[in-house]
This record gives sequence, C-alpha cells and structure tokens, in this order.
Amino acid sequence: MGELPRPARRLRRLRRTAALRDIFRETRWDVAQLVQPLFVREDDRIEAEIASMPGMRRLTVDEAAAEARVLRELNLRAVILFGLPSRKDEEATGAYEERGVVQEALRAIKADVPELVTMTDVCLCEYTDHGHCGVVVDGDVDNDATVDLLARTAVSQARAGADVVAPSAMMDGQVAAIRTALDRAGFQDTIVMGYAAKHASAFYGPFRDAADSAPRFGNRRGYQMDPANAREALREIALDLEEGADIVMVKPALAYLDVIRAARERFDAPLAAYAVSGEYALIKAAAERGWIDERAVVEETLTAIRRAGADLVLTYHAKDVATWQRKDHA
Ligand code: PBG
Repeated sequence: MGELPRPARRLRRLRRTAALRDIFRETRWDVAQLVQPLFVREDDRIEAEIASMPGMRRLTVDEAAAEARVLRELNLRAVILFGLPSRKDEEATGAYEERGVVQEALRAIKADVPELVTMTDVCLCEYTDHGHCGVVVDGDVDNDATVDLLARTAVSQARAGADVVAPSAMMDGQVAAIRTALDRAGFQDTIVMGYAAKHASAFYGPFRDAADSAPRFGNRRGYQMDPANAREALREIALDLEEGADIVMVKPALAYLDVIRAARERFDAPLAAYAVSGEYALIKAAAERGWIDERAVVEETLTAIRRAGADLVLTYHAKDVATWQRKDHA
C-alpha cells in the first residue's frame, strides 16, 4: 500500500480532553436566559392535568405564586403567564378585566417574589368563545378593533405588575398601539417583547389543549405567518422594532433556526426564541418511552437555539434544566 498521507492539520487536538473542550466551546447558555411559561386557571373546576404536556399543569393563582418562588429558588429569572378564564365571550373580556386571572396571578407573584421578571402573553385567543386571537367581524378577525383590545389588555397587565408584555396576536400595528397606550397610562418602563415572527405552526397543538384556545372555525393563517417565509419574518421584525419593541421573537424555535440566524445577523436588538409546546411534547414523548436521553436532547436543543443567535429562550423545559443544574452543583 505504501505510505498513506498524514494530516498536517489535526482538529482533534482541541477535543482531546474535557478541559480543552470546555475552553473551546463556542456557545454557552445560562438558566438566567430561560423563561418558564406557566398556565394559570381562574377556578379549580378547570382541570389541572395537561395530557399532551407531561410535567406541565394548569395552576391556580395561589399555586402559581408558590411555583414562582420555587422557580426563583432554582435561579430562574423570568416566567411568562397564560390565562384560562372561567368564562369566555366574543369580546375576550377576561383578557383585560381588573380581576382577570393573569392580572390576579401577577399580583400574587409580585407580592411573593417581587424580583422575578413577570412576562405576559398579550392575545385574545384564550378569552374568546370562538378561539380566534381577535374580534371576529363578518367571519374574519378585525385588525384594528383587535388592536384596541390588545392595548387595553397590555395596560391592565402592566397595572397588575407585568414587567414585560408580549403581544402575540400578529395584528398589524399592535406594538405601536401598545407602546403608546402604556406610555399614556404612565408605564414608560414596561418592556414590550414582540412575537414578531410568529408562524402559523402545527407545533402549537399541545398549547391549544393546555389553554383551551383552538379556533372553533377556520385557522390562524390569515394573521400568523406562512411557515415557508423567512424574508417576511425579517420584515415583521423590522416593523416591530420601528414600532418600539424592546425585544423581538422568532417562534417556533427548532424548525426555524435559519430565521433566528438571519434575524441575529440583521438586527442588534435582544432576540428571543420560543421553543413551543409541540417541541416539548416530542421530546417528552420519546423520553417517556426511553428512546432518547431527555436531558442530553434538551440541552442540545438549547445549545442549537443559542448557536443560531437567540439571546433568551422561552421553554417549558426551563424548570427541569434548572433542577438538573442545581443537582450538578449540589
Ligand atoms: C397565543 C399563543 C399561542 C402560543 C403562544 N401564544 C397559541 C397560538 O397562537 O395558537 C403557542 C405556544 C406554544 O405552542 O407553546 N396566541
């Protein structure tokens, strides 16, 4: 055979030991960058168990405050709240009433764990009887009427203690309207995180079970983005930033890493990624069957989302990740 060529460059040198790998790791993440979503129910006739999201439960207001304390003790810094009202109607009253379930949860959490950053989803789908994200007029979601109610919702959440309001209805002009309404009500310091590039994704399925928010007719493709569009995602993000968003988001995460990367390259604003309910359910289901190593897969996905360019990650795994890290350092 003769002498075979030997490599002049040996990339394996830097991978030889764990210490070397630690030094040359390009992407890191910290539990401080994770946001834990919580579902809060207005009364205990609403079932706690969520079949399609093992490990997640619908919490009462008191349970949410207790959970917030546990999360803070695990070193997490932020939660995002989703509400399950006891009544739904055409105008989504539960979204913006003074004693709404998210408003009550905000007050309870802020009373107990004031340093925890409270984020809220600003949308109407959990509160409308038809399950659409806005006001339906002649069979379609009316943009501008919806924006008025979203602004009202954001102000009521800020008043109840939200540090960050996150409009997710994908209505045009929602960020500008919310920013103006917050400023007029004296909430100049309330942060707006735009769900700027939110795609019409089948990965939201388990969430719609959890929040009982599936549309009763039609679908959300008339307002959420086509999963095929990445350039349009950048236009959505640019608009949210022009309208005053402090943070912008790409959603879902894993199937949209290219969009996260493109957004990171184009914009300097803080970028969030939402690892959604379907992403969580896939991992949980395979892990329950023993087909994958849950912790390794979760950490690898978080690394991938960070590597693509996200600064913070909204993920249902946040508490598990924080718990694993706590045990490592115990
Ligand atoms: C509200 C909202 C949804 C999600 C976040 N905010 C559902 C939807 O748009 O249908 C999905 C989150 C997830 O799947 O984890 N509109």
